[in-house]
Amino acid sequence: MTTTPIADRTTAVAARATDLSKIYGQGETQVVALDRVSVAFRQAEFTAIMGPSGSGKSTLMHCVAGLDTFSSGSVRIGDTELGSLKDKQLTKLRRDKIGFIFQAFNLLPTLTALENITLPMDIAGRKPDQQWLDTVIRMVGLADRLSHRPSQLSGGQQQRVAVARALAAKPDIIFGDEPTGNLDSRSGAEVLGFLRNSVRELQQTVVMVTHDPVAAAYADRVVFLADGRIVDEVYGPTADSVLDRMKQFDAKGRTS
Ligand SMILES: Nc1ncnc2c1ncn2[C@@H]1O[C@H](COP(=O)(O)OP(=O)(O)OP(=O)(O)O)[C@@H](O)[C@H]1O
Ligand SMILES: [Mg+2]
Repeated sequence: MTTTPIADRTTAVAARATDLSKIYGQGETQVVALDRVSVAFRQAEFTAIMGPSGSGKSTLMHCVAGLDTFSSGSVRIGDTELGSLKDKQLTKLRRDKIGFIFQAFNLLPTLTALENITLPMDIAGRKPDQQWLDTVIRMVGLADRLSHRPSQLSGGQQQRVAVARALAAKPDIIFGDEPTGNLDSRSGAEVLGFLRNSVRELQQTVVMVTHDPVAAAYADRVVFLADGRIVDEVYGPTADSVLDRMKQFDAKGRTS
């Protein structure tokens, strides 16, 4: 972990998009997936991104995480401007600074849970910080499953391996695209609780796309997207307050 004092962490920005636009195709088939989006993700903050299907949530996350190119605007991870990087530098930045949790867990079936967790560091030729690794494994409750392969684990356990993998390399920021979308509500709650703990106790920064108001309520704030734009933001969300907002947007969508 870095030695930045907690007070600084709460104000420092882990990632930022400024006037970010992403346009697919041309002419009549053109789709404006992101329309001049500006948003900051502060360190040690848990942000949920919500919005209707096709509103640009995954596109925003992929662009900010350096997984996708954008049409205009800029993205920063920490102090680094992504647009200024060559492919190799971008790959390195992704590997060193960013953790991903996808809906399909993306675990390698032939590796054990532990090998899956340390895989990104193994690829990078980095030695895991054993103490940190133990902390992460203890926190996700996988200590007695480390030698199991993914097929020998439940869905929730597999997703916890994916969460541990994202955290183990101590990324500056973790992105999850519906990380609990495939889980039953109990396993989902475990994974979300763990993500929230990693923010509270380890000062991890987390950005998560979700459709579920209950999942969003684990976050510190919710950013709402519609038609490629940020249309609202809620701090200290509850499942009810998020549901209310979603209903308002639905109502607007029907009348316009
Ligand atoms: N490769 C592509 N080519 C053309 N259009 C695309 C492409 N990828 C995404 N889009 C369009 O961009 C818009 C935003 O897509 P995106 O995947 O970001 O939505 P989303 O909010 O994540 O939706 P969902 O909740 O369904 O996952 C959509 O209208 C989609 O059809
Ligand atoms: Mg999506």
